[in-house]
Amino acid sequence: MERADPPVWAKVDEYFSSLLTPAEKALDEARKANRKSGLPAIDVSPLQGKFLEFLVRVSAARKVLEIGTLGGYSTLWLARALPVGGRVVTLELDPHHAEVARGNLRDAGVLDRVEIRVGPANETLPGLVNSAPFDLIFIDADKRSYPEYLGWALKLARVGTILIADNVVRQGKVANPKSKDANVRGVQRFTEMLAAEPRLSATVLQTVGAKGYDGFALAVVVS
Ligand code: SAH
Ligand code: DHB
Ligand code: MG
Repeated sequence: MERADPPVWAKVDEYFSSLLTPAEKALDEARKANRKSGLPAIDVSPLQGKFLEFLVRVSAARKVLEIGTLGGYSTLWLARALPVGGRVVTLELDPHHAEVARGNLRDAGVLDRVEIRVGPANETLPGLVNSAPFDLIFIDADKRSYPEYLGWALKLARVGTILIADNVVRQGKVANPKSKDANVRGVQRFTEMLAAEPRLSATVLQTVGAKGYDGFALAVVVS
């Protein structure tokens, strides 16, 4: 059978990626290690990682919280963008994922700025109250729990904190009000909470690229 051409957005992703996120040992090795260790290929793409870097830099964030570490590929982008003395706390359910992430972050020389807390995020989040406020919070764990994570993010934020949530589009399933998929329902409820929360100004960026069709929700705490 003939191989189908990659969709145009995959080619375009490759084009921009080749120029703007050129091969870098620490990042490439981390992605390779994640695949070798059997982790699912759901890390942010390189250009999306660079977007996380952009958000950290433009907000001059010093304290970052990530919910959903996987192998630490996104964590690496966040950690590398920090100023001296900056820190990332990242929460991961799966001890194997956390172990792979620890290795990647150590190899990249940023483990000293990252704290990985292992366990269900709804159990590790309450322990972060004394580390608050965070300047930027990246939500990327189980989608059904996004509403709960948003509640915690608000507790752990200050005016000006940036919230970013991955995978809010999921090939468009979010627009189906009858969806019974718990992940889709989670993202829908999360979005309704964004809309109803007077402390937040929020928007969504739909994305296409190496990971197909998806999107980020972006919000800033305004009061
Ligand atoms: N941010 C990563 C990808 C995260 S994938 C990157 O872009 O590189 C989602 C991760 O969330 C998985 O590793 C999964 O194990 C973790 N996860 C799922 N449910 C969780 C929970 N209840 N608490 C914390 N982490 C969870
Ligand atoms: C899935 C999770 C992610 O965080 C992602 O970026 C892509 C896919 C998933 O669970 O399928
Ligand atoms: Mg994701």
